[in-house]
Amino acid sequence: MANEKLKKACTRQELENISYLTIAIRYKKQPVSAIIFLFENIAYAYINVCMHMQRLLNCERDAIFDETGKYLRCSMHGFVFDPKTGECQSPVCFGQRLQTLRLQELEGVFYFAEKHLTLNEDDHD
Ligand code: FES
Repeated sequence: MANEKLKKACTRQELENISYLTIAIRYKKQPVSAIIFLFENIAYAYINVCMHMQRLLNCERDAIFDETGKYLRCSMHGFVFDPKTGECQSPVCFGQRLQTLRLQELEGVFYFAEKHLTLNEDDHD
């Protein structure tokens, strides 16, 4: 029964064609945005909230990576993050992390593997 309702995020093919996706979700009953992307061919997902001033990473620009493509970057004040861990590399918030959302891949489809996450279409709590 554990997997009776998988929470589908997106397909690998969708991620291969773009730099990132955002999906409206609920996490711990709060409406938030999730960012999902491939980095070195591995998919990562985080709640799209920068810990500095609670802004979306893509609030000022339609981008979540810096120009090197090696770091996530918040478009508000430019803080950068390790894409593999979500850890902030900029001095003010050094070491703090974006909230990770675990993903599970089954036959080219990614699902959120998070108990406290619901998709907006499952809004019945
Ligand atoms: S709000 Fe993200 S760097 Fe300031």
